[in-house]
Amino acid sequence: ATHLTGRSFVKELDFTAEEFLGLVELAAELKAAKKAGTETKRLTGKNIALVFEKTSTRTRCAFEVAAADQGASTTYLDPSGSQIGHKESVKDTARVLGRMFDGIEFRGDSQAGVEELAAYAGVPVWNGLTDDWHPTQMLADVLTMTEHSTKPLTDVSFAYLGDARFNMGNSYLVTGALLGMDVRIVAPRAYWPADEIVAQARELAGKSGARITFTEGVEEGVRGADFVVTDVWVSMGEPKEVWAERITALTPYAVTMDVLRASGNPDVKFLHCLPAFHDLGTKVGQEIHEQYGLDSLEVTDEVFESAHSVVFDEAENRLHTIKAVMVATLS
Ligand code: CP
Ligand code: NVA
Repeated sequence: ATHLTGRSFVKELDFTAEEFLGLVELAAELKAAKKAGTETKRLTGKNIALVFEKTSTRTRCAFEVAAADQGASTTYLDPSGSQIGHKESVKDTARVLGRMFDGIEFRGDSQAGVEELAAYAGVPVWNGLTDDWHPTQMLADVLTMTEHSTKPLTDVSFAYLGDARFNMGNSYLVTGALLGMDVRIVAPRAYWPADEIVAQARELAGKSGARITFTEGVEEGVRGADFVVTDVWVSMGEPKEVWAERITALTPYAVTMDVLRASGNPDVKFLHCLPAFHDLGTKVGQEIHEQYGLDSLEVTDEVFESAHSVVFDEAENRLHTIKAVMVATLS
């Protein structure tokens, strides 16, 4: 079992590769137990605060269902339903919530904010997404990769296409580097992760044996890949004005059937943390369609609905991996 009692998880590098993989393994065990109907409750009587300064479907539901499965209670604080950031500082909020709760999830813009919360709460704090990192998503994505590949993780390659400067791009780069994987960041140079994060990844790769490639060439980037990954081109909190620039720069990096074929791997799998813009089933999708005449952005509907796509396994794995984080840090 993985014991990380009392530890916070505000970024991937809070854990060693061994600890990170221990959580993935624990998640697989918890998943199997739930499916077999043999799950035991290890968080009975615990109280969990879920602080969301941004909206969420998967992360919130994963925390709530995981807590319920394990016998814990949750309190959801929505973007307008608390004093945080309006009338009360993060530091004060941390000390209040830490007196009442056994663990705190936080989603917001600011990485410094979640780190300050962790520094003052006195209980484990888990990052449910900031502008910089999405660490609980990475646990789910690595679990999904292990489920859909027969290779040892250190032989697995993935190509991340699109805007790699934000949470998902950063998290994929450092997680792949931490775990010794074959990492390809495929994007226009201006959309590569910040120098500081690249330096961090290179240092990790020196120890883990990870291979890291940055390229503007889609064919070169996806050749031989086991997984092709992308994320939305405009993230939560970004202004509407960036759409035009993103569409121009990133359209060549949209995941199409041609891109999957260019991998040369008939079993290549597609991952996306979701939500995804692949059809006109959303309000934003319709606005984009009216303004730019596009039916999809970062991934075509054909890829999204194809047998290559494992995005709903990935979404389900948010539940099992978030449960693993709570069990390991609280029990
Ligand atoms: N992938 C993810 O974090 O989804 P939500 O924004 O719905 O939580
Ligand atoms: N990059 C996206 C991820 C959503 C889970 C965002 O921050 O909106």
